[in-house]
Amino acid sequence: MIRISGLSVSYGAVRALRDVSLDVPTGQITAVIGANGAGKTTLLRAISSLVRPAGGSIDFDGTELVGMRTEEVARHGIGHVPEGRGVIEEFTVLENLRLGALHGRGKLAAGLETQFELFPALASRRKQHAGTLSGGERQMLAMARALIGEPSVLLLDEPSLGLAPIVTRDVMMTIRALCVDRGLTVVLVEQNAMSALQVADRAVVLHLGVVAADDRAEVVRADENLRHYYLGTAS
Ligand SMILES: Nc1ncnc2c1ncn2[C@@H]1O[C@H](COP(=O)(O)OP(=O)(O)OP(=O)(O)O)[C@@H](O)[C@H]1O
Ligand SMILES: [Mg+2]
Repeated sequence: MIRISGLSVSYGAVRALRDVSLDVPTGQITAVIGANGAGKTTLLRAISSLVRPAGGSIDFDGTELVGMRTEEVARHGIGHVPEGRGVIEEFTVLENLRLGALHGRGKLAAGLETQFELFPALASRRKQHAGTLSGGERQMLAMARALIGEPSVLLLDEPSLGLAPIVTRDVMMTIRALCVDRGLTVVLVEQNAMSALQVADRAVVLHLGVVAADDRAEVVRADENLRHYYLGTAS
């Protein structure tokens, strides 16, 4: 479990997160939803030690992550798929996966086979440049690249961004399967609240850097006020 307590992050005068506390239970999907600028990306960047918090603690199964180097956080089993996916377009699928394995904990050959089983669309495209993949395939590659390091926790930043609804659904079902079949712990950051809430176990709503709600996903999904005020979704 990741236990975040009193976390604050500022960029100069901008206070992106203010005294944020939440739990990420092991083996579950925790959705983090909220509008533009709510602080969702900052939360993931703080977990990965890509930004230095002004205060607070991020405890991962008894280990304090605040103050650790990013590589060290990865070595502790936290994988991060950034906003915009972060695959290298000029590299092939295989080369992107090899890069992902650099910081990993597992063996490359076995890891590659596992990823190609999980994402069969990538197997037939292993020599194709990532820049020529569809949006959905690129997202799958980004996830495979993080998973090849055998993390126990996966941080996903807006995996549905720019994807057609049917592809988004595919990606969400894949995330659900990773959690159910492999026991992966997932932090799923999404502006697309409804898609995330359909597969998540728990949901945290961030609004202007503070936690506006933290409950079971189905409770958040059913709460019209929350949807209206913080999520901008009518359905
Ligand atoms: N590098 C930065 N320098 C200055 N301000 C930043 C920086 N990164 C983010 N911010 C500010 O911090 C706040 C939170 O940003 P963040 O990117 O975490 O939000 P978000 O919820 O991920 O938004 P989006 O849905 O648009 O991705 C915003 O006000 C943003 O403008
Ligand atoms: Mg963001």
